[in-house]
Amino acid sequence: MFRRLHDAGGQSVTIDFEGDALQVGAQETVAAALMAAGAGHSRTTPVSGAPRLPFCMMGVCFDCLVEIDGVPNKQACMETVREGMKIRRQDGKRRLDP
Ligand code: FES
Repeated sequence: MFRRLHDAGGQSVTIDFEGDALQVGAQETVAAALMAAGAGHSRTTPVSGAPRLPFCMMGVCFDCLVEIDGVPNKQACMETVREGMKIRRQDGKRRLDP
């Protein structure tokens, strides 16, 4: 569904999303990397459990919330990927005690 408009030609890093190793561009945001990899939804809603994907890509909508390296409520569109980063979907309401 999503594809990169151009190849940045830079380095790549390996991230872990829900246990799957993904090779992504080193300068990408987590949200862009996950969408380009076809990783599916980033979170589910607290009430209905509906899946959500990043929408605004600029830190406004909060539909991109994920858990990064054990820390919940991270906006995937505001985080740049790092080698070895472990990312999990954020299901339902946020936890206050990570
Ligand atoms: S995509 Fe909207 S806040 Fe991240």
